[in-house]
Amino acid sequence: MKQKIALVVGATGLVGSNLVQTLLESEEYLKVIVWVRSTTGITHEKLEETIVDFNTLGHYQLNRGVDHIFCCLGTTIKVAKTKQNFKKVDLDYPVTLGRMASEKGVSQFIVISAMGANHKSRVFYNAVKGEMESELRKLSLLGLKIFRPSLLLGNRNDFRFGEKAAEVLSKVIPFVFSGELRKYKPIEGKVVAQAMYRVALHERAGVEVFPSDIIRQIGTNKK
Ligand SMILES: NC(=O)c1ccc[n+]([C@@H]2O[C@H](COP(=O)([O-])OP(=O)(O)OC[C@H]3O[C@@H](n4cnc5c(N)ncnc54)[C@H](OP(=O)(O)O)[C@@H]3O)[C@@H](O)[C@H]2O)c1
Repeated sequence: MKQKIALVVGATGLVGSNLVQTLLESEEYLKVIVWVRSTTGITHEKLEETIVDFNTLGHYQLNRGVDHIFCCLGTTIKVAKTKQNFKKVDLDYPVTLGRMASEKGVSQFIVISAMGANHKSRVFYNAVKGEMESELRKLSLLGLKIFRPSLLLGNRNDFRFGEKAAEVLSKVIPFVFSGELRKYKPIEGKVVAQAMYRVALHERAGVEVFPSDIIRQIGTNKK
């Protein structure tokens, strides 16, 4: 099989950084391009890093031959401070990238949404994620893969109370996320990254949505 070229946006985040590592180590990928606002600090012969001004994202040209785009962008209201800023990162940027992918006939566009994504939701976060999904669906992408993980676990620099609480809960009372609640079980960022990598390589056409329990199965190869 021809080696692939990947573009990762959100490469400095929890999922994105795990994904970049996986792609760099994979023989399936010839080149890993990252668009970042500050350097990843990684040097690797396969890595091509571009510092991007995300306010003018739409003016950038997609690198030639990109096969797969992985969108791992995201922020929190705490960091973004306003709903408008939040929407830029979680809606506008992913849709701009989706448009580029559609125009250039990129085979796979893999994006992280969230478990409760629903454009009609009264919860702002879920509504924005839902809107992002709806806008991407309109773009006639060759392959659109939407990942809807539950709470993400992993090492972060910033403290996030909800994630920490869920992590502690799942360790202290492991059965709390069993049976019907299994789909809510927090998931490691690196498992999500692994699943994104595997799904991209299948190169299936059309739209597919991956709920958190399926992401876990794909990312760990476990039922
Ligand atoms: N956290 C959860 O529990 C959870 C649950 C379900 C779904 N998700 C979703 O999963 C995705 C990945 O989450 P994560 O935890 O891996 O994210 P993360 O660690 O917070 O990383 C976010 C990435 O987005 C970039 N970014 C943030 N604001 C930006 C801006 N204004 N301009 C350009 N880049 C910006 C960050 O770059 P910098 O390093 O430059 O800031 C970073 O690379 C997100 O879409 C998130 O909404 C998260």
